[in-house]
Amino acid sequence: MHQTSREMTEVLVQNQKLYQPSRAILKTARVKDYQGMLKKARRNPVKFWAEAANDIHWFKKWDKVFDDSHKPFYQWFAGAKTNLAYNALDRHIGTPVANKTAIFWEDESGRSRRYSYLELYHEVNQLVNGLKKLGVKKGDRVAVYLPNIPETAIALLACAKLGAIHSVVYAGYSAKALEERIKDAKAKILVTADGSFRRGKVVDLKSIADRAVKNCPRVKKVVVVKNNGQKIKFNRRRDIWYHELIKNQPVEAKCAVMSAEDPAFVLYTSGTTSKPKGVIHVHGGYAVQVLRTIKWVFDLRGNEVFWCTADPGWITGHSYIIYGPLMAGITTLMYEGVPDVPRPDRIWRLVEKYKVNVLYTAPTLIRLMMKYGNAWPQKHQMKSLRILGSVGEPINPAAWKWFHKYVGKNRCPIMDTWWQTETGAQMITPLPCAPLKAGSTGKPFPGIVADVVDKKGKPVPYGKGGYLVIKNQWPSMIRTIFNNPERYVKTYWQKIKAVYFTGDVAFKDKDGYYWIQGRTDDVLKIAGHRLGTAEIESAFAHHPAVVEAAVIGLPDPVKGESIKAFVVLKQGIKPSDKLQEELRHTVRQTIGPVAVIGAIAFTDKLPKTRSGKIMRRVLKAKELGLPLGDTSALI
Ligand code: PRX
Repeated sequence: MHQTSREMTEVLVQNQKLYQPSRAILKTARVKDYQGMLKKARRNPVKFWAEAANDIHWFKKWDKVFDDSHKPFYQWFAGAKTNLAYNALDRHIGTPVANKTAIFWEDESGRSRRYSYLELYHEVNQLVNGLKKLGVKKGDRVAVYLPNIPETAIALLACAKLGAIHSVVYAGYSAKALEERIKDAKAKILVTADGSFRRGKVVDLKSIADRAVKNCPRVKKVVVVKNNGQKIKFNRRRDIWYHELIKNQPVEAKCAVMSAEDPAFVLYTSGTTSKPKGVIHVHGGYAVQVLRTIKWVFDLRGNEVFWCTADPGWITGHSYIIYGPLMAGITTLMYEGVPDVPRPDRIWRLVEKYKVNVLYTAPTLIRLMMKYGNAWPQKHQMKSLRILGSVGEPINPAAWKWFHKYVGKNRCPIMDTWWQTETGAQMITPLPCAPLKAGSTGKPFPGIVADVVDKKGKPVPYGKGGYLVIKNQWPSMIRTIFNNPERYVKTYWQKIKAVYFTGDVAFKDKDGYYWIQGRTDDVLKIAGHRLGTAEIESAFAHHPAVVEAAVIGLPDPVKGESIKAFVVLKQGIKPSDKLQEELRHTVRQTIGPVAVIGAIAFTDKLPKTRSGKIMRRVLKAKELGLPLGDTSALI
């Protein structure tokens, strides 16, 4: 949601109110002297991260903390040996954590399960042994297409433990999108489920997976988790039930000793072209920053229960449903359902039932809850809550204040955390001890150096919008784009000289607080889901009636943004409601239900630059009745 400069000024004036941390929060906070900590880390960020690295287990310590001799292919903890899954699981075995609840899971219909750390450890080991039997080896890619269930965590941990690289594809993607990602990663195994329920309706994951795998000859085996029990087509030669694969497997397995810089996973995300980018994260640095942030930002400890409402298919789920909470040895809650089934108080009921201490969610969900009204959270006893979190898109001050008042009862600080698939972990975020401003992500996390600059990399004055950049390197940073290092260099390190280009626009206020405005205009955030305009436009072009299309995001009161498409039809084809429906269907088939098209407008031509680039910004400005602005500023 881009704000105009008048709105920015208003935000600046209105938001000088500081929400100070309560005494109770300060008492338990791991970091109490906020300014002191920021200063200390700023003096030597590399030293800060080296200290943080002591929180994880290393089979062998590093030779060098940070190595920039092959920039921008930076390395952290080079020479060290570790394993991400070992840190999340193995290291707890034989400690009091082993008997704690690792995962609570509940689905929409109310079925529930619980795994202790020891139970989780055993099942992960069984799957490690099972996958090995299927021929999975260190460095192989395993695609995962699963709903929000414990087996997703188990599959990821098993891959990491044996040194295979997991590639999770969000279950809201279509067969085509899944196929494309499997092919790009050259995965040889797919782990999926029979299906899932969404608002009581069956989501037929297995048949989507079948359609995807049909065109992926490299995939030798499909492991199927029995989740919702629906009938599926079973290919005896290729498919194997998850429960049969792990049955009779030993509950102990060897953990692969990985180099800190070995890839742990690839996660596809949308960028400026129609081809998604396979973002690579590694075993060492990723573990260090995910653990340090979850500990400091959410201050979790002991028997606390953490609920991150994201899906494991996105980076938020990887880092803060699975790896972060498990590395911290606390309890993570997984909910396989939508927030308003059977009633709009489902979220609050779950908070009450599982005595959730920290709730980490997204602005789109907060706005939806806000729409349902104050009465719903008030029906529930949510005394367990200590800290709240938000992620994925800008949170408008009104939603922030509602969340703070009606959910946090004015006593739970809100950690509005800015980060990306590429950053791996939180980057700009308050800590519980920091004074907060409603709608701001606060300051960079200790050890992170950010700024707001113009096209040339020159810092812009306070209150003025510009490009959000990161000026140093950080342990959980993207290492490369799978199979495409040139794209990695071009996308992140060449747009503005010598800094990491985030693709976001933001401004800083006079206190150094960041206010994120949204993406520069080629990536959309629909209900927090990241989609590329080019990806959607090429999906439209799959329809035979379409010459070309341009899509933009328009402000939406709940979803943050909704998609509007401008479509040029082939000569002689007349626009109609039926055609609109067909186009929506085509996009759904190509990308998946995650890409919901709001409005479609038929047009004769699209505004373009001389070199033929579609000027989406012009379309957007026209739609919003704004001045067309300086279109040359487009990067
Ligand atoms: O535009 C920013 C927005 O989400 C983008 C990254 O999306 P993705 O890779 O899907 O990761 C989302 C979860 C980490 C960013 O470039 N974004 C993320 N967090 C915030 C945000 N925008 C504003 N405020 C945030 N807290």
